[in-house]
Amino acid sequence: MNGEFKDGKDFPIFLDNNDPLGHFRRRFYTKKDTIYVCGNSLGLASIDAEEAMLNVIEKWKNEGIKIWNVDDNKYLLYSAYLAKLMAVIIGANPDEIAISDSTTVNIHQGVSTFYKPTSDKYKILVDDKNFPTDRYAIDSQVRLKGYEPKDAVKVVTCNGKFFDEDDFIEAMTPDVALILLPTVYYRSAQILDMKKISDAAKERNIIIGWDLSHAVGAIEIDLKSLDIDFAIWCTYKYLNGGPGSSAGIYINRRHFHMLPGLAGWFGNKSETQFNLLQDFEHREDANGWLIGTPHVLSMAGLEGSLKLLNEAGMKNIRSKSLHITAYLMFLIDSKLTEHGFTIGNPREDEKRGGHVCLEHDEGYRISIALKARGVVPDFRDPNVIRIAPIALYTSYEEVYRLVEILLDIVTNETYKEISQKRDLVV
Ligand SMILES: Cc1ncc(COP(=O)(O)O)c(C=O)c1O
Repeated sequence: MNGEFKDGKDFPIFLDNNDPLGHFRRRFYTKKDTIYVCGNSLGLASIDAEEAMLNVIEKWKNEGIKIWNVDDNKYLLYSAYLAKLMAVIIGANPDEIAISDSTTVNIHQGVSTFYKPTSDKYKILVDDKNFPTDRYAIDSQVRLKGYEPKDAVKVVTCNGKFFDEDDFIEAMTPDVALILLPTVYYRSAQILDMKKISDAAKERNIIIGWDLSHAVGAIEIDLKSLDIDFAIWCTYKYLNGGPGSSAGIYINRRHFHMLPGLAGWFGNKSETQFNLLQDFEHREDANGWLIGTPHVLSMAGLEGSLKLLNEAGMKNIRSKSLHITAYLMFLIDSKLTEHGFTIGNPREDEKRGGHVCLEHDEGYRISIALKARGVVPDFRDPNVIRIAPIALYTSYEEVYRLVEILLDIVTNETYKEISQKRDLVV
């Protein structure tokens, strides 16, 4: 892969001029003096997302309560509307997807639905490197069922930099009832082999759920071929839905007959929802897992951005993402490793997600120095600067410039002027 890249200022310009997705950048609110490489945390606003949001505001202004019924009940049934746009991105049937609440709430929803512990099968299998909200949710769910996390939560530890899928399979003992794992690790960008792990879980009659937060919109996913039990994901990272945009939940059709762990009136059958009966009539598709009124203002951005993503196509997005991150790694290898930087993500295309994990002992102060120079990455303890060149809006020229800025920061040691004191969000 590296053989195809060259150093020098002209090369990234050549790549930009030949980028089939290059024109999408104009649809995003990029800034002239800012190199934004934080789309793995919060995707940039697009004109498409903005238009969909303004459209909702207009409808609210003009229609008041009638907003729920305009355009064939679009906003009342907004989850199902968005599910159709999301279905292609995760390779699922639209009726297996609901859009609502936050990722963490959806973890609670998935786990409280599927976790049915018995005296000899009551453990939940997790890992020690997932984003902590998943763990907090799991611990509280086992407590709700009367267990202690230190007994009922089985943690696979990472021996080394990356996980070995076989360690998860080995840990699938008969006492394990449910597994929750991330598809892509938020820090190392490692992709787990979902098929291998999911097949092993199914063979052992263990429920498996996946957190797709760092995968969706970054890598291709085909849930139909995996036949997993449930999945959850956020929509504000690579899907560019906007800060705190409503999250996704996937429920395999096999389970539509089950009752949701957390029921609410929006999970009632549409035909009888407004009869307001005391008995819950569960809607037998993923929307049966909705809880309350759709957060329309937090969903509208997603409408615009999902249409945009589908227009670009996930295959093309993944292919550009692999190429631009490979270019970044090429520049890091050739210019930065001699200054104490290492690449902390897997190198193989099939094993790495959408960001490059750049490690340095002075990572925190360097990340702040980058911000002072107009580069926006983020930092994760103890030493990781996460850099996500995003397929639809980051240019190769920006990647080149960002590495030149990094080189300047470490050569001139400007990061040493920066205090170690941390901001609330890093
Ligand atoms: C793997 C993973 N799950 C969940 C979340 C966040 O959950 P929520 O959207 O509920 O804040 C994150 C946030 O970065 C994440 O990386």
